[in-house]
Amino acid sequence: MNPKGRHAKSKARINSYENLLSQEANAKLSDLQIYIPPGPRLGDVVIEAKDIAKSFDDRILVEGMNFTLPPGGIIGIVGPNGAGKTTLFKMITGVETPDSGSIKLGETVKLAHVDQTREQLDDKKTIWETISGNSDIIKIGSREMNSRAYVARFNFTGADQSKKLEVLSGGERNRVNLAMMLKEEANVLLLDEPTNDLDVNTLRALEEGLLNFAGCAVVVSHDRWFLDRVATHILAFEGESKVYWFEGNYSEYEADRKKRLGIDADQPHRIKYRHLTRIKDFTAYFFCNGLRLYSDPCVKHFCRLYTVINVCGRIG
Ligand SMILES: Nc1ncnc2c1ncn2[C@@H]1O[C@H](COP(=O)(O)OP(=O)(O)OP(=O)(O)O)[C@@H](O)[C@H]1O
Ligand SMILES: [Mg+2]
Repeated sequence: MNPKGRHAKSKARINSYENLLSQEANAKLSDLQIYIPPGPRLGDVVIEAKDIAKSFDDRILVEGMNFTLPPGGIIGIVGPNGAGKTTLFKMITGVETPDSGSIKLGETVKLAHVDQTREQLDDKKTIWETISGNSDIIKIGSREMNSRAYVARFNFTGADQSKKLEVLSGGERNRVNLAMMLKEEANVLLLDEPTNDLDVNTLRALEEGLLNFAGCAVVVSHDRWFLDRVATHILAFEGESKVYWFEGNYSEYEADRKKRLGIDADQPHRIKYRHLTRIKDFTAYFFCNGLRLYSDPCVKHFCRLYTVINVCGRIG
């Protein structure tokens, strides 16, 4: 599909949230390999981030981050390693708080989240026990289905279902997490690199599942083809602590980025953070870290220099 066609598709998805929710739309979903049951109905605003800033030590991960996720929207989060993508998830789930700004979640939002380290599961249990909770019948939204059939939809068939989690590969563990998370009846899915190590079949099934999902998702992924298919918006960590919000899929974002940045857009880059060097930030940081910081020779030198410049300014 050409970029224009894709854009129309992502717009249509936002406009058709009500349709996605309706019974008619759900009727054909039984054909899907991965069917994601919808959670409670979402209001007009799902996630609203206003002027977020977040630092760790003296590194500013993000500054002035703004975005609004509408019902039905799927945000693709892109950016280099260490940019702050997982930290954003932690701010959405309340594990981390922004240094300034606010993240508001809609009243009916029900989040489902698997963290990137995928360490939440009991390694002594088998795949089937973990996903089914030892029950032959599993409830997926308003339907019931055989739990072994559900587990098989994530590419675990036959003896695979009896494998203990402790022996699983990264991709297999990823599939177990997806199977657990996607039956939760949440309406906002936070997926941190779900495409890592995923086999092609499950990847396609996940794409289809998301496209038919009557809810929202925020997906960190380095897989541009996946994002092209599913994302209605892109949130891009572009370096220098800047995060760019774009309405459209990945190809459109990339075209826009080229227009904005010219040849720089093509440069491969490691993440570059802004540091707390402005006087205002430095003062705040200094007060937070007190004398421990002052014992650093560089800081002492900076303070002396600052005083000299100030005095000279006044004399001049
Ligand atoms: N609690 C913390 N204390 C101090 N530094 C932290 C903390 N959590 C994360 N960081 C640092 O903040 C930066 C951003 O981390 P984060 O995990 O959000 O990156 P990411 O974009 O998800 O990277 P990746 O693509 O590798 O998963 C990293 O340099 C990380 O080491
Ligand atoms: Mg991460």
